[in-house]
Amino acid sequence: MTVADNSQTPVLEAKGISKTFPGVKALQDVSVSLRRGEVHALVGENGAGKSTLIKVLTGVYQLDAGQLLLHGNSVSFASPRAAQDAGISTIYQEVNLVPLQSGARNLYLGREPRTALGLIDFKRMNRDAKALLSDFNIDADPTVPVATLALGAQQMISVARAISLEASVVIMDEPTSSLESREVETLFRLIERLKADGVAIVYVSHRLDELYRICDQVTVLRDGRLVHSGPIADLPRQQLVATMLGRELLAQHSRSSSAVVQPPDAAKVAPVLVADSLNRRGLLHDVSVEIRPGEVVGLGGLLGAGRSETAKAILGAQILDSGHVSVGGSPVALGSPARSIAAGVVLLPEDRKADGILPNLSIKDNIVLAALPRLSKSGVFSDSAANKLVATFMQRLNIKAFGPSQKVGTLSGGNQQKVLLARWLCLEPRILMLDEPTRGIDVGAKAEVRRLIDELAEQGLGVLLISSETEELVDGSHRVLVLREGSIVDELDGHRLNEGDLVHAIAGTLGGETSA
Ligand SMILES: Nc1ncnc2c1ncn2[C@@H]1O[C@H](COP(=O)(O)OP(=O)(O)OP(=O)(O)O)[C@@H](O)[C@H]1O
Ligand SMILES: [Mg+2]
Repeated sequence: MTVADNSQTPVLEAKGISKTFPGVKALQDVSVSLRRGEVHALVGENGAGKSTLIKVLTGVYQLDAGQLLLHGNSVSFASPRAAQDAGISTIYQEVNLVPLQSGARNLYLGREPRTALGLIDFKRMNRDAKALLSDFNIDADPTVPVATLALGAQQMISVARAISLEASVVIMDEPTSSLESREVETLFRLIERLKADGVAIVYVSHRLDELYRICDQVTVLRDGRLVHSGPIADLPRQQLVATMLGRELLAQHSRSSSAVVQPPDAAKVAPVLVADSLNRRGLLHDVSVEIRPGEVVGLGGLLGAGRSETAKAILGAQILDSGHVSVGGSPVALGSPARSIAAGVVLLPEDRKADGILPNLSIKDNIVLAALPRLSKSGVFSDSAANKLVATFMQRLNIKAFGPSQKVGTLSGGNQQKVLLARWLCLEPRILMLDEPTRGIDVGAKAEVRRLIDELAEQGLGVLLISSETEELVDGSHRVLVLREGSIVDELDGHRLNEGDLVHAIAGTLGGETSA
C-alpha cells in the first residue's frame, strides 16, 4: 500500500511538532501519521515526550511549531473539548474522572440525557450507563461515586467514556497500568472492535508484550525526538528496546531466577517481620507473612484478592479484627501507620495520585516529606542533609528533571513514580513494602528499580513485593505467597517459582502443580 493512495489519507497527522517547557524541549520536530483501523504504538523512556505529544494532539497544550492535519485539513485545538468535538477521544495517563460523581455521570459528562424540563434525567442516565458498561463487558457499578471504585474499575469507566464518544481517533496513554489481566483482555477486545470500525488508535504502554499483541505501527521517541517510525512487525523486541533507550539494555534486566541473590538461611536468621493471623471480616482471613532480612517475598493474586489490604494491615493503615505484627522481635501496636513507620515499616502505595504525590510541591519537598523527623535531629532541620539525600536519590533512581526544585506535577508519569519511591527509601526502612512499584516505569528504569530492590535486600532489608506482573514476581522474589479471596492459598519457591505455576495458583486452577 502506498502513501499516495487517497483512501489512505491519514485520519490525523502531526507534522514537525515542537513543544518547549521552561528548561526542557519536550518535543522537537516530531511527525506521526495515524491511519484508519490501525493501532499506533507510541513508545519511549519516562520523560521521552509521549504524554506531551498526546496533549498537543488533544488541545491540552498548544504547539510551539508544527502542524496538525485532521482528515487532510489543517486544524488547531484551543482546548481538549475542541479536540473531542472534532472526533479525538482521549484516555489520559492519570485517571481523570470527577471522583465524587457517579460512574454514570462521568460517562455522560457534558452530554447528560435531559428531562423535558431540561434537568438531568438520572434514571435514564443510570440505565444507559449500565447498558453501555455491560455491552462493553465492563464490570463496574455506574451508580456509586467513582472514588469508591477500585482503580481498575475507574480506568475502565474512562475507557468506556472515550469509546462511547464514537470518535475517529482514540488515544490511550498507558490505559492498562492499573488494570488486572481480565480487564486488559476486555480492553483489547474493545480495541479490536474500534479497529474494525475504522478508528485510528494511539496506544502508549511500557508493557512490550501488549504492544506486540495489538499494535500495527510503532513510533519511538527519545528525549523529545522521533527516532523510529514504521510497522511494529519490522522492529523485533530487542531492537525496539535498544532504539528506545539509545543503548542495549543491560543483561541484568532478564536475569534468571538462579541469579537472584540467595536469601539468608531460614533456619539461622530470625525474621525481621512477623505478621501473624491478620483478620478482617470480608477482607483478610488468617493471613500470616514472615520476612527475613535480605529476603524479597512476593505477594501474588488477582485484584481484590487482598494483596494491598495485607500490606496496609502490616502498616497499620487497615483496621483489623485481630492479628499481631512484630518487627525485629518487638510487637508493633496495630492501627497506627506512624508507629509502624517509626518501627521501620514503609509502604509505597498503589494509588499514587490519591495516596502520595503532592503535584504542586517540588521534587525535594516530596522526597524529604517522610524523612523530616529524621532530618530534624534535636528539632533543627538540616537543609544541607536534605539536599544531599535528595541529590543521592535523584541520581540513584535516575529521576529526569531540571533540578530538585521542579514541581512534581510537571514530571513525566514514570518520574513522579520514582520520586515517591525515593520518599520511602530515604527513611532507611527495615521492611519495605512495594505495591506495584514499577507501574508506569519504562523497561530501563524497571531494571534499575529491580536492581535497587536486590541491592537493598542484600543490605539486609526485608521486602514485600506486590505486583500484577507475574514475570516481575517470579524474577524479583525469593518466594511468592498467593492470595485468593483474602486467604493465603499457596506459597511458591524453588522449582515451583515459575510463571506457569504462579498463574495457576493465582487463578485457582489445577495444573503445573508438581508437589504433593
Ligand atoms: N507542564 C509541564 N511543565 C514542565 N515540564 C513538563 C510539563 N509537562 C511535561 N514536562 C516535561 O516534558 C518532558 C516529557 O514529559 P512527558 O510527560 O511527555 O513524558 P512521557 O514520555 O509521557 O513519560 P512517562 O513514560 O514517564 O509517562 C519531561 O521532561 C517532563 O518533565
Ligand atoms: Mg506519560
